[in-house]
Amino acid sequence: METNEMIDKLNSLIRLDNDALSSYNKVIEVIEEATLKAEITRFRDDHKRHVSVLSELVKSYGGEASTEQKDIRRLFLGGATALQSLFGVEGALKALHTGEKITNKNYSESVQWDVPEDVKTVLKENYADEQRHIRFVESALRDKVWEKR
Ligand SMILES: [Fe+2]
Ligand SMILES: [Fe+2]
Repeated sequence: METNEMIDKLNSLIRLDNDALSSYNKVIEVIEEATLKAEITRFRDDHKRHVSVLSELVKSYGGEASTEQKDIRRLFLGGATALQSLFGVEGALKALHTGEKITNKNYSESVQWDVPEDVKTVLKENYADEQRHIRFVESALRDKVWEKR
């Protein structure tokens, strides 16, 4: 893969992770239960780290790292305010689930890219995080964690 194409694709992942980051920040505000809040906060920190590690990679290959978000926030949070007031924690988790399906799809494609080893390593590590996130969100939805107080 040409370096310029790789940089564009990495920047696209950065925008996606930035979007995930802001969505998780919103969800953290509505979650009161301590264990769930702590886990969601760790995932938020993962996305923050994804953004910074990918940005460093882009810079190391001579590119300029994107600071924008991809415009999928509506998908990720489905209109955050309405969801929060109507559906509380369940709605927030469903919104995260929708978003994580998108991040997982994008990262699953990214690990197939023909790119240098240092880039590949980062993509694989990030993808492993995203898989952990979606598994957790799915089990939280399955267990109806919002009913357990
Ligand atoms: Fe991420
Ligand atoms: Fe994630």
